Amino acid sequence: MARAMRLFAFALLVAIAASVDRNNFKTCDQSSFCRRLRKVEQDNSKYILNLDTLQVSAHSLEADLLNPDATFKFTLTALAGNTFRLFADEIKPLHKRYKVVGALDGEPKLTKLEVLERTKQEVVIKCGDSKVKLIAEPFKIEFYNKDTVVAVVNARGLFTIEHLRVKPQEQADGNEELPKEDPGAWEENFKSHHDSKPRGPEALAMDVTFPGAIRAYGLPEHADHLALRSTGPGATDPYRLYNLDVFEYELETTMAIYGAVPVLYAHGPENTVGVFWHNSAETWVDISNSKDTNVVSSIVNLVSGKKDENKVDAHFMSESGVLDVFVMLGPKPADVVKQYAALTGVAPLPQYFTFGYHQCRWNYNDEDDVKNVVEKFDEGDFPLDVMWLDIEYTDGKKYFTWDPVKFSHSTVMLNNLTATGRKLVAIIDPHVKRESGYFLHEDALNNDYYVKDKDGKVFEGWCWPGSSSYPDFFDPTVVDYYSNLYSLDKFKGSTENLYIWNDMNEPSVFNGPEITMGKDMVHYGNWEHRHVHNLYGLYYTMVTMKGLQARSPNKRPFILTRAFFAGSQRYAAMWTGDNAAEWSHLAISYPMCLSVALGGISFCGADIGGFFHNPDPELLLRWYQVATWLPFFRAHAHIDTKRREPYLYGSDVQMRIRNALKLRYAHLPMWYTQFWEHSRTGEPVIRPLFYEFPEDSNVLDIDNQVLIGKSVMATAVSQHSASSASVYLPGGSEQLWYDLSDFKSYTGSGYITYPVNLDKIPVFYMGGSIVSRKDRPRRASSLMHDDPYTLYVSLDNNKSATGTLYIDDSESYEYKKKKYLYIRFNYKDNTLTNSFIDQDAKYPTLSWLERVVVLGASNNFRYATLKTPKGEDTILQVSYDSEGRSLIIRKPGVSMREKFTITLH
Ligand code: GLC
Repeated sequence: MARAMRLFAFALLVAIAASVDRNNFKTCDQSSFCRRLRKVEQDNSKYILNLDTLQVSAHSLEADLLNPDATFKFTLTALAGNTFRLFADEIKPLHKRYKVVGALDGEPKLTKLEVLERTKQEVVIKCGDSKVKLIAEPFKIEFYNKDTVVAVVNARGLFTIEHLRVKPQEQADGNEELPKEDPGAWEENFKSHHDSKPRGPEALAMDVTFPGAIRAYGLPEHADHLALRSTGPGATDPYRLYNLDVFEYELETTMAIYGAVPVLYAHGPENTVGVFWHNSAETWVDISNSKDTNVVSSIVNLVSGKKDENKVDAHFMSESGVLDVFVMLGPKPADVVKQYAALTGVAPLPQYFTFGYHQCRWNYNDEDDVKNVVEKFDEGDFPLDVMWLDIEYTDGKKYFTWDPVKFSHSTVMLNNLTATGRKLVAIIDPHVKRESGYFLHEDALNNDYYVKDKDGKVFEGWCWPGSSSYPDFFDPTVVDYYSNLYSLDKFKGSTENLYIWNDMNEPSVFNGPEITMGKDMVHYGNWEHRHVHNLYGLYYTMVTMKGLQARSPNKRPFILTRAFFAGSQRYAAMWTGDNAAEWSHLAISYPMCLSVALGGISFCGADIGGFFHNPDPELLLRWYQVATWLPFFRAHAHIDTKRREPYLYGSDVQMRIRNALKLRYAHLPMWYTQFWEHSRTGEPVIRPLFYEFPEDSNVLDIDNQVLIGKSVMATAVSQHSASSASVYLPGGSEQLWYDLSDFKSYTGSGYITYPVNLDKIPVFYMGGSIVSRKDRPRRASSLMHDDPYTLYVSLDNNKSATGTLYIDDSESYEYKKKKYLYIRFNYKDNTLTNSFIDQDAKYPTLSWLERVVVLGASNNFRYATLKTPKGEDTILQVSYDSEGRSLIIRKPGVSMREKFTITLH
């Protein structure tokens, strides 16, 4: 009996732990092109760059690239910002190969190159501090930062472009041997699904070696650690980039999930190099880090006295498309990330409310439910900005409609939310219910808006509404039609206060191969789904953006997306999809968002509480505390879970969640300023430690700590009953860190054991920073618009600090007409001053300076003086907290639009 119980318990554990059905998703070995490309023989490249055909122009080199069977045109282009573009296409393709449209933010800026050397075997060009050597045979490209090789393309000889061919016919007499091909090259089956591959094989691959690199990062989205692991045949599958709806996704694997950004960062103490593989087809990337493979060679070297060389190898493999690759030479992590942002763009400034707290669940049942939840939030003094509606608000899963009984007065509901300063977000998914009489379906059928199958019939798949079809968002006519559905006269029952959640846009097709659309479905321009799969989600958000901008021309849209690609930051925020109420899922939220942020998409969050299953109060509470320090701050839950709004818990839990929410609201000016700066510089809002401390080898694998700009560092507490957390303080003994909870100061570098209780997680202000806060949290951020500011001045070792603050109307595009304030604060020589970064920008803010809190000040100041250009000097009171850790300057009272000087005496 006891044994039976044990077995049962074990089976239950297994069932809970291994929830994803791996059988639904391909391994590399089950994918013909991945199999083929992984088998390419190393060090035996058949590719030759014919330098006799070399053409040099101001910005580029062009030459024929040959393999024994085909000729390609190869181009190397020099781009502004230490970036090079490699491009290769067949000279006479049987069919056109697909070139990605939509990921780049316009045409990249060119820069001039200079040819330094040219022989029959190689050409060397120079561009600023960088050099590129093209080697003819076998084809190879070396990239140099000054005189150091930092990346080598085709170092291992895995470069491949399968040229498009006519299918070899069965031999009539059966005597002649057909070339041996991979069994899935011309058509392929997966489970019950058949892929007809009308154009046959057209895969491509490229290896890049990064000498000197000790870690690789990037390639989101995976539910894995930030630093990429070594993969390899016979061991782990390559990182897969193929947007998929993975039910109950597993952690710590290289399996694909909802989004894909094919950008890789190879990082070493001297150089960080990026590669952006500009391809929207299914992609796999093998990574090999010498630190993982050097074990054997270290023993050999110990004997021979040789030293191991650090390097990272990457092998990109895609199913189709032209070869189009950007190599970004940094040299520091921040440089590479900015170079990537220069290519794919930045997130435009969001509205202020979007950084507030979002309350979601599948589902709030009706208008009364929405009203009650908001009321309870108010009663419990929990700040709240946005209520969300999941699919059940619609009339039978028909998007752009409302349930006629439960949401019959949606505009009244929306207006009530507006009246309390809140917004509503409603879900709109791309699948369309195939129901006669449903206007969207009828319009799509009558006007030929749907994606087709290989025989030209409208594709039908299964999703939430049952039988569904999928509009083809690659068709400009569909874009115009569908975006117009957001106009107030089309989306009846909506108002300008409604924002949009785009889900299931991988696209999710419940009965399709790997829960998505078959690859031989056909899109606009006769491209197969194979070519554009990873773009579908991006295009869907582009349409939504267009619709919301047309609906409300002077209000910045807010869109949340699940599927994404390179460039999605220009349209939407994203979240990490259907996580679970488990400590491990809380833990993975920082690494996942950090990785996505390096992929250009800073506006990231994870469902607070975990989507599946029920969190216990401790897990829920911790989740709020941890999520306070991620950009997108939303609680969400599956329809089968118990209600878990904060007011449903005991008073202690309520108090702690309230505190987390209030801490978040106090820091809204910081988030807003960070996103403003991101929109100007492309720097990520949340950053892993290696980004700011690239030379510190201790930080390479730290991904449970997140930096917000250069001012805050939070550490996730993701263990049940934790009484302490290990926190790494980077920056060396010169760098000060101030504990946010008691202002105690620490110096780097090293680990500290930080005692935690249920009240807090470790959060530090970075010495040298000035954080602007609004310390009077209210029910909603809109009600705090004119509230006064408190500046937290965290002094560095030289007793100075600096910081910025951005203020505008929080919602419109007036900032484009210079209606804003962008303030720099400087503290030096016991004096705090402000200056206006864009002097021609003005905003008539009503906010004023309520308080200045100086951390790390000496304790002999007695008063302060305030000087403004207009007024007399004013004497301000100064006090210290009981421990003498913070000095408080009371009520400067000066308007945030005025220049001032505050001096301590
Ligand atoms: C998907 C989403 C989830 C949503 C559900 C119903 O699973 O990821 O957030 O609640 O669909 O729309």
